Amino acid sequence: VKKRGFRFLRWTWRLTYLSAIAGLGYVGYGIYEMRNPEDQPDPHPSKKTLVVLGTGWGAVSLLKKLDTENYNVIVVSPRNYFLFTPLLPSCTVGTIEHRSIMEPIRNFLRHKKAAVKFYEAEATKIDYENRVVYIDDDSEIKGDSSKTQVPFDMLVVGVGIPGVRENGLFLKEVGDAQRIRARIMDCCETATFKDQSEEEKKRLLHMVVVGGGPTGVEFAGELQDFFHSDLKKWLPEIKDNFHVTLVEALPNVLPMFSKQLIDYTEQTFKEETITIRTKTMVKNVTDKYIEAESNGPDGKKVLERIPFGLLVWATGNALRPIVKDLINQIPAQKDSRRGLAVNEYLVVKGTENVWAVGDCAVANYAPTAQVAAQEGAFLARMFNNMAKTQEIDSQLAELSIAQEKAPGKEARDQIFMEIKELQKRLRRVKQIGPFEYSHQGSLAYIGSEKAVADISWFSGNIASGGTVTYIFWRSAYLSMCFSTRNRVLVIMDWVKAKVFGRDVSRV
Ligand code: FAD
Ligand code: NAI
Repeated sequence: VKKRGFRFLRWTWRLTYLSAIAGLGYVGYGIYEMRNPEDQPDPHPSKKTLVVLGTGWGAVSLLKKLDTENYNVIVVSPRNYFLFTPLLPSCTVGTIEHRSIMEPIRNFLRHKKAAVKFYEAEATKIDYENRVVYIDDDSEIKGDSSKTQVPFDMLVVGVGIPGVRENGLFLKEVGDAQRIRARIMDCCETATFKDQSEEEKKRLLHMVVVGGGPTGVEFAGELQDFFHSDLKKWLPEIKDNFHVTLVEALPNVLPMFSKQLIDYTEQTFKEETITIRTKTMVKNVTDKYIEAESNGPDGKKVLERIPFGLLVWATGNALRPIVKDLINQIPAQKDSRRGLAVNEYLVVKGTENVWAVGDCAVANYAPTAQVAAQEGAFLARMFNNMAKTQEIDSQLAELSIAQEKAPGKEARDQIFMEIKELQKRLRRVKQIGPFEYSHQGSLAYIGSEKAVADISWFSGNIASGGTVTYIFWRSAYLSMCFSTRNRVLVIMDWVKAKVFGRDVSRV
């Protein structure tokens, strides 16, 4: 009996093993097949033209959920990829390679039900009166046609906000992360150049980050990790002079986190020897030093020169010219300063058929990916419903004509029942409420394999910081990556950085 029991267990184990392999094979084949999408039907010219500006969080979240069969969809963006910004600070030091967090927009659009047109171009002007967007191919290679116009029936503006670029380096796009990565290595190599003075070494190896929001904090943490795990091993001569300073105008960093996590972050930075200079406002920037104002011991304002080799400016954002221009065209937007004022359905106030999502829309939410993604998904639902409503309306019109012409009472009653059913469906479809943001919480990496998290849990809040939170941070961001391809690449980069260390070559 014992022997038979073992044999049974062995067979069960073999069967489980085989089914697991078959399951994995099936998933793998599915992914492989997805590389060869089916032919997409072209949109019908009778459908409305929906133009979407941007390929960021807001626009892509809208496109993901939008039923493209309902509209003639055109996407315009100077960036032919989606960028998973939460992992961008990791690209500045090579923990992750930038291509691992980019998803080509073409791959994604080719899997939609109906074809979507994409133009790699910058929208330079929205002519609201004439319902036309002017677009301009500002890439290096230009064809005979490089400036044109795209008419629209419906327009979604999801162009985001650019960084304040006039000072130092910013961290917003892939190019910024690449420039920072090259500059860090340039500073280190230049500091070790023959006969460099001690003072100049100190300056070159002083890495200053201005802005203690999550971008500044995450970057400072990643930079200190890079120094600890790699730089000081490969360039031991920089060990005594390499230093990271974070400058923040407010009394503390990470203002959106709870007090306990702010204290935890400041304490962790102290242990990691990152200097935090709070209540210090940068007033002026030159190519070698910043001038920062703070309160002296006597309470009087002092202006201090802080020399730097690398300066990363992470102090929030400005407005894109196209958004400024649209604001100027619409009288109802005359008081808009931070972006396009929208109503609770994300319609740009003072317009018809123009919506705004993400950072360029002002709806009393923080400019985060979380908000942009929820707004995009909301618009997709609303547009899908609008198309369904139109379809039901025309069916209802046809049915009421048929009802009038119906020969007998029985046929009329039959049509009456159908109309009732459709009216019920119409009420359900029309039941889309205004946009409501649901805050899932805030997460930030603070270096030395620690993260902080303020997570909304039912009606309460959980605040946690440390290594377990760091594991949570990694799994949360991994699950939020755009595609399976991105997830696999990010995992491979993490493993590669752990096993071989980060790459210190300057490209
Ligand atoms: P974006 O994602 O900026 O996209 C704008 C799009 O418009 C881009 O495709 C751009 O190429 C395109 N565009 C620009 N100009 C034009 C034009 N003239 N015509 C047509 N297209 C144009 N938020 C979080 O919630 N969690 C995080 O962890 C987080 N981490 C971040 C880390 C970093 C380093 C940064 C910089 C931001 C982070 N954010 C995070 C914020 C988040 O990235 C933004 O809130 C989000 O990207 C906003 O989405 P969006 O669609 O409005 O704009
Ligand atoms: P931010 O606006 O959040 O922070 C900028 C900081 O710079 C502010 O604290 C401000 O006081 C300070 N500052 C401004 N001018 C200054 C000066 N002259 N001198 C010194 N300090 C100065 O900007 P950030 O970090 O770029 O974030 C932008 C948005 O993206 C935010 O909404 C943020 O929540 C989101 N984000 C979220 C992340 C996350 O959740 N992990 C990561 C990165 C960004």
